[in-house]
Amino acid sequence: METQNLSLIFISLLLFISFIFLLFQRWNNSKTTLKKRLPPGPWGLPFIGNLHQLMNGHLPYHTLRNLSQKYGPIIHLRLGEISTIIVSSSEMAKEILKIKFASRPALMHGDIVFYNYTDIGNFPWGDYWRNMRKVCILELLSSKMVKSFSSIRQAEMSSVISSINTMPGDLINLSDKFNWFTSCVTCRSVCGKVVHDQDKLIMLVKDVMSFYIGFELADMFPSRKWLHKFNGLKSKLMKAHAKVDVLLENIINEHKENRANGKKGNGESGGEDLIDVLLRVMESGEVGTPITNKNIKAVIFDMFIGGAETSSSTIIWTMAELIRNPSVMAKAQLEVREVLKGKKTFEDADLEELKYLKLVIKESLRLHPPVPLLLPRESREETSINGYIIPVKTRVLVNVWAIGRDPKYWHNPESYIPERFENSSVDFRGNHFELLPFGAGRRICPGMLFGLTNVGHSLAELLYHFDWKLPDGVNPNDLDMTEGEGATVSRKADLCLIATPFGHS
Ligand code: HEM
Repeated sequence: METQNLSLIFISLLLFISFIFLLFQRWNNSKTTLKKRLPPGPWGLPFIGNLHQLMNGHLPYHTLRNLSQKYGPIIHLRLGEISTIIVSSSEMAKEILKIKFASRPALMHGDIVFYNYTDIGNFPWGDYWRNMRKVCILELLSSKMVKSFSSIRQAEMSSVISSINTMPGDLINLSDKFNWFTSCVTCRSVCGKVVHDQDKLIMLVKDVMSFYIGFELADMFPSRKWLHKFNGLKSKLMKAHAKVDVLLENIINEHKENRANGKKGNGESGGEDLIDVLLRVMESGEVGTPITNKNIKAVIFDMFIGGAETSSSTIIWTMAELIRNPSVMAKAQLEVREVLKGKKTFEDADLEELKYLKLVIKESLRLHPPVPLLLPRESREETSINGYIIPVKTRVLVNVWAIGRDPKYWHNPESYIPERFENSSVDFRGNHFELLPFGAGRRICPGMLFGLTNVGHSLAELLYHFDWKLPDGVNPNDLDMTEGEGATVSRKADLCLIATPFGHS
């Protein structure tokens, strides 16, 4: 009897183990099938995945290009707990940007969520985002609004030119000047006359942005508990943000009071500034969902973040490339001096005539896109691309920096040759996927015109008013062109040049 019982237990155990084994095999098979169908990529480590491959001291978009040269134009990495696809070819970018992905992933900065992500850059796909983005394109950053800010650009530029004029023969830090210039233009366009301490606001916004970048990093870590590492940073970020919040709240409320008293335009030249536009939209109810002060602050933050550094970095990279390429500088300068000859002020319409300068800017954006990896997108459903499966909620990054330097699309890609765009239909408005400095598809940058106008205006005036050179003893070919770390790609070293007022050399 006892032997019978024992064999029964033994058989049941055997059956149980076989059942578990079968289950495991099925699970493993389904996992490997999925793995097989995921895009290729390097082996990851348990827990951290491929993070160590990205934290190797090199800039992430450089490492990602190297990986894509090894594994192909679409690769899969696991960054901590985040499954990520990286795309590095024009063909794959077209699939991703044009067809499927418009949603941004919800970031995971623990409790560091400002304004509930109701801004345009971070808000996930949905009606609120769609309506707000429409307002942004049709109203906030429309050509009419950009034109209405032209007096602000003129005033800020004239103070830059005057300050350079007072320093003939001195080394001028152009990086500092233009970081400040683009921030001032953005701040004045957003807040109009209703800003009592502009310098303080700009400095605080810059602080928030620089602390925030630390959390972008934290976002990639395997678990939120790693955030404790950033605790010091977190309290600094929260404090800086709280101060900006108070300033912005006051600015919005002052706009509201002025509007209630019949003054609908608080802009500098009497028209609307960007906050007026948002308040008008809020009153009209055209966004569908009610807009609160919180939402307005979120959008203003987008303008500061999107508007300032991207444009100043393009101005500075262009000046650096021009100083390294004297024949391009001479050609651009000749054109600017012919077109602007005898004009007292620079008008936005003059930009239309500066055909060569436009090619110069395009070439700068190809080699130095300020946003080298487009803002992350997320698959809202399982998708297949090029025979590979992209599971739902996978993060997708497009390496536009790598695409802009790919010899498959560009002859002599590392050289600065604006003429490559002469008689070429390739533009950067999201139709040609080999040139994507502003992204493409439903998430394409809504501030393109604003940004390009600030960049074009600044460069035209710099080239018109001054001749530029490097300090004695520095050879143009030796100019350090290393890229710095940060949300946007600026030069690692500030660009310092000597200016000679035109006509006085
Ligand atoms: C040279 C100047 C600029 C460059 C190169 C640039 C580039 C970009 C890029 C690459 C994106 C991501 C697009 C994508 O993921 O497909 C973006 C998004 C964005 N940009 Fe710009 N930008 C510039 C200027 C501006 C300006 C002046 C503003 C506003 C004042 C602005 C506001 C935004 C906003 C709000 C988004 C988020 C759009 C969304 O997620 O729907 N940008 N920009």
